[in-house]
Amino acid sequence: MKRINTAILGATGMIGQSYLYLLSNHPWLQVTSLTGGESAGKKYGVVAKWRMSSDIPEQFRDITVKPTEPEEVKADIIFSALPSSVAKVVEPRFAEAGYCIISDSSAFRPYDDMPVVIPEVNPEHLGIIEVQKSKRKWDGFIVSNPNCTVLGLNIVLKPIHDLLTIKKAVVTTMQAISGAGFPGVPSLSITDNIIPYIAEEEEKVRFEISKIFGSIEDGKIKLSDIKVEVCCNRVPTIDGHLETVYLETEERVDVDRVKDALRSFKGKPQELKLPTAPIPPIIVREEEDRPQPHLDRLAGSVPGMGVTVGRVRRGLDANSLWLHVLSHNTIRGGSGSSILIGELMLAQKMI
Ligand SMILES: NC(=O)c1ccc[n+]([C@@H]2O[C@H](COP(=O)([O-])OP(=O)(O)OC[C@H]3O[C@@H](n4cnc5c(N)ncnc54)[C@H](OP(=O)(O)O)[C@@H]3O)[C@@H](O)[C@H]2O)c1
Repeated sequence: MKRINTAILGATGMIGQSYLYLLSNHPWLQVTSLTGGESAGKKYGVVAKWRMSSDIPEQFRDITVKPTEPEEVKADIIFSALPSSVAKVVEPRFAEAGYCIISDSSAFRPYDDMPVVIPEVNPEHLGIIEVQKSKRKWDGFIVSNPNCTVLGLNIVLKPIHDLLTIKKAVVTTMQAISGAGFPGVPSLSITDNIIPYIAEEEEKVRFEISKIFGSIEDGKIKLSDIKVEVCCNRVPTIDGHLETVYLETEERVDVDRVKDALRSFKGKPQELKLPTAPIPPIIVREEEDRPQPHLDRLAGSVPGMGVTVGRVRRGLDANSLWLHVLSHNTIRGGSGSSILIGELMLAQKMI
């Protein structure tokens, strides 16, 4: 199969680097263009402050980073890892020029013609793209990947919400430093410390979960009425967001049935055996002290794509449940999930 030309916008950043890490040997996609802001005009291997644990894949070292402009890029799929403020201006220009954009930024998630997609959870929301194209008179389109905090959490809520009706979810997050990009949080602020606030994060989590569980009605994505409350904290781990989740449900909880539902859950990516699909997507651990970021962030048959759940137990009464959720914020919560959206769209001949 001829590989599809792919561009990464914002290729030097934390998410941009994780794209290159995941795409260096991809069977369907080949990276042909890298773009940046200040790094434009320089060789990637010279200008990227590489943060992944393995070296920069050899084939990217000598690529010259291009300015982030549609005419500088030749690709059939574009992954955008731009800061939101930049994406807001730049991504529509690419969509207007006919490009398929899969974006990690939050810039367009709030709009009701913009799908926010987790391939295992709401692949049907891709159907809104035709509405978006005709409404905005674009030849291309934008699909958003959700916030890194939402991704692992929402994948786990899906099989539980299919089994039981979640009345309320109360979540506390412990989010890794890399979630703030590079250079991120100053070392003097985060070393020996926890910061109990991440700007705009709690609003994003509440809104995006409601949108992902929503439905398409009259050419718009209508929000679901699932109730989620969340407290977001920045903690001094490097990668991997850990979250405690308390659920109140309509029905009585049978903990073993919940674990079975989590273990047996699979979505379209697993059914279609997409290259970046972790099998299974959710890993349930029985040890009393797992999941841990250091041990579990690279879990999964595709490392970093598996979401790990542990300490599944009953809460205050029979209609409640506690669990811990861990997912890799730059892989499952960023590039890996966006690549999975691209693979799903290719498999469904939407690109
Ligand atoms: N970090 C995470 O865990 C995570 C997870 C999910 C989603 N996200 C989202 O993904 C996006 C990227 O995050 P990140 O953590 O990778 O950020 P980052 O490390 O700060 O990287 C930002 C990238 O954008 C480029 N850029 C900045 N200003 C630009 C401009 N004016 N024109 C063109 N390119 C520009 C930078 O290139 P130069 O170096 O050349 O300026 C760099 O490659 C953000 O929207 C973020 O919210 C992040």
